[in-house]
Amino acid sequence: MKITAISIFPEYFSPLRLSLIGKAIESSVVDFKAIDLREFTHDNHKTVDDTPYGGGAGMVMKPEPWGEAIDSALNRHDGIVDLILLTPAGKTFDQELAAKLSSRENLLFACGRYEGIDARVSDFYRGHQRVRLHEISIGNYVLNGGEVAALVMIEAITRLIPGVIGNPDSLLEESHNEIGEVEYPVYTKPAEWRGLEVPEVLKSGNHGEIANWRRREAQRRSKTLRESE
Ligand code: ADE
Repeated sequence: MKITAISIFPEYFSPLRLSLIGKAIESSVVDFKAIDLREFTHDNHKTVDDTPYGGGAGMVMKPEPWGEAIDSALNRHDGIVDLILLTPAGKTFDQELAAKLSSRENLLFACGRYEGIDARVSDFYRGHQRVRLHEISIGNYVLNGGEVAALVMIEAITRLIPGVIGNPDSLLEESHNEIGEVEYPVYTKPAEWRGLEVPEVLKSGNHGEIANWRRREAQRRSKTLRESE
């Protein structure tokens, strides 16, 4: 999978060098590049924003640097590219979309700042023959920019690529799987910690009963979670 992220803070993406995703990048399962939006400006101040037409607070990101940066990023990729515009006004990201995007070859993240990117940028690329456009929010809260949201998405997506996670079985049982349930509680040694015991059934060696217990606990947790929403 080839991933490009466009941002005025490309250093935001340096944590991707760490951990399992770092290994995937090192072993070329994932090819990642962060591009600095300011490289696509042509004035001495490297201006990426301006005041909004119609007035109002804040600044809006100018379309020209975004257009040039996205065109340049598209040149780094072959074929169809999933262009992901991070915005609090987008569709909420979830495990289903993570799974869908994990099978795609080319992801391009556009990380806006300020009050957002001039709306003509999304209008233009929605009609582009090499682009599948997604306007995505990672949750109902407002961040200072799309960088952290892109990091969240990249982690959730790349861990689903075969070979990125050591033991693929751990993907099957985890929370937000196909049946929409969260995971059962897990325990390790010691059997007693600060007066709290590991449930007997888990130490019984009875795999049938363990499976039943885990199913019941997962259902109970999912129900509690839904009721607290
Ligand atoms: N940019 C600002 N807030 C955001 C959010 N919640 N999701 C994605 N991008 C954002």
